[in-house]
Amino acid sequence: MEVIIVQDAAAGGETVAQGIAALLRRTPAALLGVATGSTPLPVYQALASLVRAGGVDMSAARIAQLDEYVGLPQGHPESYRSVVLREVVEPLGLDPASFMGPDGSAEDVRAACEAYDAALAAAGGVDLQLLGIGTDGHIGFNEPCSSLASRTRIKTLTEQTRADNARFFGGDIEQVPRHVITQGIGTILEARHLVLLATGENKADAVARAVEGPVASVVPASALQLHPHATVVVDEAAASKLK
Ligand code: F6R
Repeated sequence: MEVIIVQDAAAGGETVAQGIAALLRRTPAALLGVATGSTPLPVYQALASLVRAGGVDMSAARIAQLDEYVGLPQGHPESYRSVVLREVVEPLGLDPASFMGPDGSAEDVRAACEAYDAALAAAGGVDLQLLGIGTDGHIGFNEPCSSLASRTRIKTLTEQTRADNARFFGGDIEQVPRHVITQGIGTILEARHLVLLATGENKADAVARAVEGPVASVVPASALQLHPHATVVVDEAAASKLK
């Protein structure tokens, strides 16, 4: 595992965007796995600047969602499909048809999960998966004690994660869905390159446990230690508890 410490969130965004741009120069039709939440926003902004400046051509790039809330009405602004369309697909000028994600409004959620794993495999697998990390060490929405071999499936969010995400729902935890579909840890580990970005002091504990603690399902992000090509980009605050 490679750990890159940068000064702040903007530098983290720039570093990861440059890595994605380098991949796209080698593999223009790369399948990029994208995360939502606050942390990756500087990545998408830096990538959009690169596209505008002609530094990278994303016209053939494909996008895959990492996770999705279950039960939000279609088109809800906080569904991850809406967020990825708003924060990634539109600003980067990508073709919405090149974007895939799990169907959080499916009647048969289990079938939707299986269909998503099959779609990822049929697309040739994820070339680069961008990840954030929860304060409890989750990746995707694989909460602590998720099986390290898990596949895409429905999960129940912890109260901590619902409280962390209430800021996207007007601060009202009751509006945060209780269930999600998430790529499993086993699914995530199949991506050819994992890039975890963490910024801010509130991630320092989780980063230290993921990077320097034992590999254990109680810290899902520690599974990155098992991957042959994992990069962790952290700002100084998030790195503050690394030895
Ligand atoms: C979102 C996701 C989550 C977030 C994590 C951190 O697609 O998979 O694992 O990356 O909850 O969220 P932020 O970046 O908002 O702190």
